[in-house]
Amino acid sequence: MTSVKSKPSDGKPEEDVVDPWTVKAVDDKGVDYDKLIEKFGSKRIDKALLKRFEKVTGHKPHHMLSRGIFFSQRDLDFILDCYESKKPFFLYTGRGPSSEAMHMGHLIPFIFTKWLQDVFDVPLVVQMTDDEKFLWRLADADEALRLTYENAKDIIALGFDINKTFIFSDMEYIGSQPAFYKNIIKIQKCVTYNQVKAIFGFNDSDNIGKISFPAIQAAPSFSNSFPQIFGEDDVGKTPCLIPCAIDQDPYFRMTRDVAPRLNYPKPALIHSVFFPALQGAKSKMSASDPTSSIFLTDTPDEIKEKINKYAYSGGQDTEEKHRKKGGDCEIDIAYQYLTFFMEDDARLEQIKKDYTSGKMLTGELKKELIIILQKLVSDHQKQRKAVTEKMVKDYLTPRALHFKSK
Ligand code: TYM
Repeated sequence: MTSVKSKPSDGKPEEDVVDPWTVKAVDDKGVDYDKLIEKFGSKRIDKALLKRFEKVTGHKPHHMLSRGIFFSQRDLDFILDCYESKKPFFLYTGRGPSSEAMHMGHLIPFIFTKWLQDVFDVPLVVQMTDDEKFLWRLADADEALRLTYENAKDIIALGFDINKTFIFSDMEYIGSQPAFYKNIIKIQKCVTYNQVKAIFGFNDSDNIGKISFPAIQAAPSFSNSFPQIFGEDDVGKTPCLIPCAIDQDPYFRMTRDVAPRLNYPKPALIHSVFFPALQGAKSKMSASDPTSSIFLTDTPDEIKEKINKYAYSGGQDTEEKHRKKGGDCEIDIAYQYLTFFMEDDARLEQIKKDYTSGKMLTGELKKELIIILQKLVSDHQKQRKAVTEKMVKDYLTPRALHFKSK
């Protein structure tokens, strides 16, 4: 298990814990991302890189980039080199379909990936790890596969270009594509039991499916896992960029270690911070606790009630005190949520100023957020309703994709 030391022991947990299964912060402000970057060995996305991004692509960075929500990277400059010199590359991301209701946090990498696909105009592969969810969480493998199709509707609803997007279920694709399975076993052969134990914290009681699973999440990083997209004679040399929250990094640290041994390029990464639970950056969102987050299935009234009732406030307990002392945006969940979803920089800045000075009250701040999230979620529900079974089947069918640079 990867953990980051944060504070000396004082009866509280000592460390932030960040791995694909646990995100636990010691401090009210959430995970210490500077320490995490140091521990994981990734790089912070700095102003110079953002400037280069804009120069090379001709697009102003997405607000999730300019506000530091996507804050860390590995080899992003190399991907920009590829774009600049018109060399092909692709995007890869994924979802572990463990429940029907995805929460707002799950949406973050997909919203951002959609934007990257529009900017770069490159193919995207989306891995649905129904095998992972069966091995870890679900009792029934058929249920995991059903959830792949349900969650795929939410992903398709975001508007990914069908000509450039392939979504696949591990259960189905492994059985139908020998090139994918060949990469999986090649990766498995390069990683020892000791290594996966050290990276993922597995122990002797974990089932053997879990122990071999990291190779399955690693394999889509290599282009020759997709001969229908990159050609039957592809030797896996087309680089990829993986957008995800930083909890998924352990999989790709392992992948990057293995890649040179298989003569493949290392996947590049772009990592986001976590979208916090309503109760505060310290606690975790959970599909089994409907009060911990806003879900894509929530009604406008539920959104309003959850934010008013549960969103942890950085405001003062009385209006008089608030007017005098102002609120703390750093721990205020309604403000934090606005940084993810309010696109207007000037309005966000004004809200921060007014809330910090005490001019704006918690109820007013929450109202701004409620309006934005009600619209976002109800628009999403409409778009999801428009996704037909035939569309889902089409996105999940292995086929050639349009590849501009080919
Ligand atoms: P899953 O289903 O747990 O999460 C899907 C994606 O959402 C990100 N994520 C979050 N982002 C911001 N705030 C949050 N609170 C939050 N919670 C989850 C995850 O980092 C992920 O990007 N094993 C993976 C599926 C997978 C994958 C991949 C993900 C397979 N291949 C390649 C990313 C890239 C999983 O169970 O994700």
